[in-house]
Amino acid sequence: MLIRKPSDLSLPEREATPEALYLNRREWLAAMVAAGLLPACAKAEPEAALAALDYTPGPFSTREERTPFKAITTYNNFYEFGTDKGDPSARAHTLRPRPWTVVVDGKVHKPRRFDVDQLLKAFPLEERVYRLRCVEGWSMVIPWVGFPLAALLKLVEPEADARYVAFTSLHDPKQMPGQRGAVLDWPYVEGLRLDEALHPLTLLAVGLYGRVLPNQNGAPIRLVVPWKYGFKSIKSVVSIRLTDRQPPTSWNLSNPREYGFYSNVNPEVSHPRWSQAKERRIGEFRRRDTLLFNGYAEQVAGLYKGMDLRRFY
Ligand code: MTE
Repeated sequence: MLIRKPSDLSLPEREATPEALYLNRREWLAAMVAAGLLPACAKAEPEAALAALDYTPGPFSTREERTPFKAITTYNNFYEFGTDKGDPSARAHTLRPRPWTVVVDGKVHKPRRFDVDQLLKAFPLEERVYRLRCVEGWSMVIPWVGFPLAALLKLVEPEADARYVAFTSLHDPKQMPGQRGAVLDWPYVEGLRLDEALHPLTLLAVGLYGRVLPNQNGAPIRLVVPWKYGFKSIKSVVSIRLTDRQPPTSWNLSNPREYGFYSNVNPEVSHPRWSQAKERRIGEFRRRDTLLFNGYAEQVAGLYKGMDLRRFY
């Protein structure tokens, strides 16, 4: 995100979308086995070996064509593993997503430390097919599996003066070699206003395409805020803290002129170095219009009523 390279925007869709990816996960596995691509019980491709999750379809899913699994899992931003789009899929095998705990504390009545598997059992998992729009100008359609952040926050009972939620990613240079360099201040941090965090669209994702989250996509648990630029969707979360003050965010700390706290997708508010009016869906050549709040205005515009979105960018 620091430097926009032309190559970032010209990823050819080398792999045709296997029709199998549109089937449900059992059919998909069966189809893979039938095609001889996945031995019935074997160490196949790492992504094929990812365990299946149980989930039901959730609300607000777009019916737009899903971006192929291959593109979602090989074209990533995860600076803990390097700054090139291919670095996370090549290097994130050093991340150990189990055992993993998430601490939820701060201005709450019942602070708790959760084992991630406890979270997976505590909340029914839903599939949410969301658009993800990156500030760099590309977008994807991703079938996440997860549960609403609101469900977790309600469990810890926010105090009356909680106003914001601060998120922190894992900080461990042994697992995350990119943290040995100073490209960002580590750990990666993000924040939301409490009402944004409680919005039913805001998801904690633990999987995609019906399978557990691949490391490069932020295993074992990451935030997804579909009406904001992709960088707000912090990966590999270890801490969720409720506060009464607006928390710092990594990209704002690194370049406050270019990245604000809100970072709502807005075609009318340009990034200082390029327009945000258009985007290119990964796998397509044409550029399409970017929609206000990434197309989720009906659900979220009310959160920003009366705010000057140029000032609060
Ligand atoms: N979270 C952490 N911890 N580190 C990162 O570098 N990159 C962000 C966001 N979350 C990032 C992160 C950016 S810039 C984007 S566009 C999305 O993750 C990309 O998510 P994806 O790779 O799953 O598509």
